[in-house]
Amino acid sequence: MKAALIHEVGPPEQIIFEDLPTPTPQRGEVLIRVGAVAVNPIDTYIRGGAVSFDFPLPYIVGCDFAGTIVACGEGVKEFQIGERVWGSNQGIFGRQGTFAEVIAVPIEWIYRTPDDVRDEDAAAQALVGITAHLGLFQRAQLQAGETVLVNGGSGGVGASVIQLARAQGARVIATAGSEEKRTACIEWGAELAIDYRQEGWEKEVKELAPQGVHLLWDTTRDPDLDRDVDLLARGGRMILMAGRDARPPFPVGPFYSKSCTLLGLIMFAASAAEQRICGNAISDALASGALSPRIDRVLPLTETADAHRIQEEATIHGRGQLFGKIVLIP
Ligand SMILES: NC(=O)c1ccc[n+]([C@@H]2O[C@H](COP(=O)([O-])OP(=O)(O)OC[C@H]3O[C@@H](n4cnc5c(N)ncnc54)[C@H](OP(=O)(O)O)[C@@H]3O)[C@@H](O)[C@H]2O)c1
Repeated sequence: MKAALIHEVGPPEQIIFEDLPTPTPQRGEVLIRVGAVAVNPIDTYIRGGAVSFDFPLPYIVGCDFAGTIVACGEGVKEFQIGERVWGSNQGIFGRQGTFAEVIAVPIEWIYRTPDDVRDEDAAAQALVGITAHLGLFQRAQLQAGETVLVNGGSGGVGASVIQLARAQGARVIATAGSEEKRTACIEWGAELAIDYRQEGWEKEVKELAPQGVHLLWDTTRDPDLDRDVDLLARGGRMILMAGRDARPPFPVGPFYSKSCTLLGLIMFAASAAEQRICGNAISDALASGALSPRIDRVLPLTETADAHRIQEEATIHGRGQLFGKIVLIP
């Protein structure tokens, strides 16, 4: 079988498309013929060496996948050959990645794909959807009627946060960098979408939420915590989940005197049981239409190196025209 893999970490050119032996499903694993995979920023950090894990070499890149079960390892009773499934959290903690024609995945990391949902959409929604669900419901305990501000609402995570928060009955305010992206935020359910490039944009948040927001989700890699804490309501919560090297000043006084809570979030460290709660809810939300991913482009798996270049330019350097997920088809 063919796979997009690296022999050592480095720039996107390290990714080559090569033959590997088809894996054999071990006890508790299923073998999946991959229908689609999706790129996430973390894929580029792992490939580039910015986030380091022990991984098998050659290392197949990628975390997300959707496809069809073609064989079951010993002891697998919960899933059957022919079932369509999706998942994430591969390619880390020593597990092999997903950008291949066929993959073997432990069943603790797979979720059923609803009949009417395409593999492209299930893969595109995987890591970003689980992240959003974990943060909103397990970390921040979002309640109906609360107001959520998503700084970076047009990205993979931001779009999922808007839709899932809205489906829970929260009011949502989002920021985005272009007119087209702000329109999409409104279509996903935001009541207000603000241009984050505009000086003093926080005034618009205060007009809509004069008491402050109950939950502020900052997806940016270098958050302005003075501004963020100022926008929080008394007792408000804030989620931070990006920018490993960021060391912004923290406004201790305003933060504690409003009894606020700061929540760090790292999706891939959540247990399989915690992620299954998200996975099952995402399958339901995809089936009902409450959640639908935006796909920027679909490429053949042979173009994985290009996909990494495009994702890196957008997420790290803020350049390019990416608006939605990059999905690849083996
Ligand atoms: N901790 C975790 O578990 C976890 C999980 C997933 C992702 N992440 C991290 O979270 C970040 C977002 O992930 P993603 O998949 O959503 O990435 P993405 O799809 O590349 O989205 C990035 C978003 O950031 C926005 N943005 C860029 N500069 C901004 C600024 N100055 N102010 C406000 N928004 C700005 C972009 O807005 P426009 O496109 O509108 O300009 C876009 O919406 C990445 O750094 C990723 O590594 C962490």
